[in-house]
Amino acid sequence: MTRRFACIAGMGSALGSKVVSNEELARDLDTSDEWIRSRTGIVARRFAAPEETASSLAADAGSRALDAAGIDPGVIDMTVVATVSGDQPLPSTASFVQERLGMQGWAFDLGAACAGFVYGLEVASAHIAAGSAENVLVVGTEVLSRFLDFTDRSTCVLFGDGAGAAVVVAGQEPGVIGSALETDGRLAELLQIPAGGSRAPASEDTVRRSEHFIKMADGSEVFRRAVEAMAGTASSLLEKSGMTPDDVSLLVPHQANARIIRSVAQRLSFPEERVFVDLAYVGNNSAASVPAAMDRAWRAGRLQPGDLVLTVAFGAGMAWGANLIRWTAPEVAS
Ligand code: UT7
Repeated sequence: MTRRFACIAGMGSALGSKVVSNEELARDLDTSDEWIRSRTGIVARRFAAPEETASSLAADAGSRALDAAGIDPGVIDMTVVATVSGDQPLPSTASFVQERLGMQGWAFDLGAACAGFVYGLEVASAHIAAGSAENVLVVGTEVLSRFLDFTDRSTCVLFGDGAGAAVVVAGQEPGVIGSALETDGRLAELLQIPAGGSRAPASEDTVRRSEHFIKMADGSEVFRRAVEAMAGTASSLLEKSGMTPDDVSLLVPHQANARIIRSVAQRLSFPEERVFVDLAYVGNNSAASVPAAMDRAWRAGRLQPGDLVLTVAFGAGMAWGANLIRWTAPEVAS
């Protein structure tokens, strides 16, 4: 039997429609544009408008990815939606996305926070290789603005809303060359939304204690672990694949913090011009961060057919991972 490989045929992205600048947040919060810019690289972020949800942003990104790939939604037989801010606890956000786009087959959500898309791409790749899927839509989508405590300056300035999607199809040459994925559940309490699940169902008390919002126990510890984990996992994936940073055309890291990205790139000895950083006007979009950045890089002409692309992400769980990809989507018409 001929081997089958997962190949990216097209990408798309979408952002929440409301632009929120650092100055706007600083109006009601003890922070400043200078502090946020210098510590994170973020100047503004996009929040979803009231009618926008994780599934509507995912469908917008998915529809752009399908158009770019020239693929009819009806041939998609598997939909993976990576999110931690889905429309509802039940059913999956993937069900809504499947219905919105008129796709078929099976659809499910995947929860790996900021590493969600990187995990999702590996899941799609494994199913394509096994012959249990043919055409997969992998989406990362988040509306984390609905889970932010706007009195907590250490978290609410970091995140934004958006979605990024990849159409992944079966091909004869790799595509997705390999992935490295890791989780350390001992670190789960570093970054969490404590209530709203079966451990602490929604109640007047959980609402009064603001437990439905994102809590980050120790920002600088998350920072330190992010750098260590992303550099480590990217480096071991390259080694396992017999490649070095010199072989990689573009590193597309999780767009959480420009200082984290700089430290990861330095540890991996990646020159600045081969690292994609464009978080200034989007903020940290969690699971949407990597695919939306890939889409923007592609549409900006930074990814050409044949290029070797390295993604790397880190987030709550703590969960992290990397994908090594031979770029197979065609050049985009400008
Ligand atoms: O996808 C993973 C999600 N999480 C992340 O990406 C977060 C990773 N961590 C970070 O990006 C950084 O740790 C932060 C941007 C959150 C903070 O930067 P830092 O250089 O690590 O600052 P710090 O945690 O050492 O905090 C320094 C000070 C503290 O004040 P005190 O205790 O020294 O008086 C904070 O209260 O900065 C204060 N601070 C702020 N000040 C103004 C925290 N947030 C703000 C703020 N404005 N928004």
